[in-house]
Amino acid sequence: MTALLDVSRLAKRFGAVQAVERLDFQVEPGEILGIIGPNGAGKTTAINLISGVIRPDSGRITFAGQDVTGMRPDLLVRRGVVRTFQATTIYQERTVRENVRRGAFTTAYRGFWSTFLGTAGARAAARRAGEAIDELLSWLGLSEVADAEARSLPYGFQKVLGLGIALAARPRLAMLDEPAAGLSHDEANHVAEVVRRINREDVSVIVVDHNMRFISTLCHRIVVLHHGAELATGTPQDVTRDPRVIEAYLGTQH
Ligand SMILES: Nc1ncnc2c1ncn2[C@@H]1O[C@H](COP(=O)(O)OP(=O)(O)O)[C@@H](O)[C@H]1O
Ligand SMILES: [Mg+2]
Repeated sequence: MTALLDVSRLAKRFGAVQAVERLDFQVEPGEILGIIGPNGAGKTTAINLISGVIRPDSGRITFAGQDVTGMRPDLLVRRGVVRTFQATTIYQERTVRENVRRGAFTTAYRGFWSTFLGTAGARAAARRAGEAIDELLSWLGLSEVADAEARSLPYGFQKVLGLGIALAARPRLAMLDEPAAGLSHDEANHVAEVVRRINREDVSVIVVDHNMRFISTLCHRIVVLHHGAELATGTPQDVTRDPRVIEAYLGTQH
């Protein structure tokens, strides 16, 4: 099987800090991959590198068989690579629906929208786009608050809305940076359920978090980062039993 994403010997230094060091991992089609590690381990930097927000010092990123190293974020979105940010990036004074619509129309996408935009009349196209957005909102559990201003939502809903904006671009790979951070147990479960649904729609997902339980129940495989380098990769079961992981990471938590 050819990996959807192949990260090879990726490295990034900030001054004296080697934020990411010789990082290697793959994401298979249909996979939910977790990236875990303590604060400062390099998780966000890895996502920034893959999503084109920053350029690597060295290494290679291959997506769907093509070298995309150093490619601009908007071009990556067009190819189907989207990400969310650790802090929510929503328009607080716009409605939930307007926020999701922005996600769909400020990005370029494959299939989905463009197919009917090219063939149907403009009015019909707008109606169908509206229907697709309503469907996405329902899917996210946001229908009832679709016309509310984003700032009026509880934090958990704002995080889900952040997911919705990214998903409106119809990605093939969605990278979620701490999607459950700051959420209650129930809210985190809802986020996990949304991630599983995305995944069932044939979207591969990278989930970054520092909560081993959240990652373990959600992900097929986990990459453990430690000081910017890969410490271990495997199934949640393997990784949580790995003595190196227990010593370096779990050991510091308990
Ligand atoms: N833009 C930046 N400038 C300088 N240092 C940075 C920058 N981004 C990240 N770092 C440093 O790189 C290391 C990894 O950070 P980060 O990737 O944010 O870790 P994580 O997301 O795992 O908490 C940290 O030491 C952090 O301070
Ligand atoms: Mg981070």
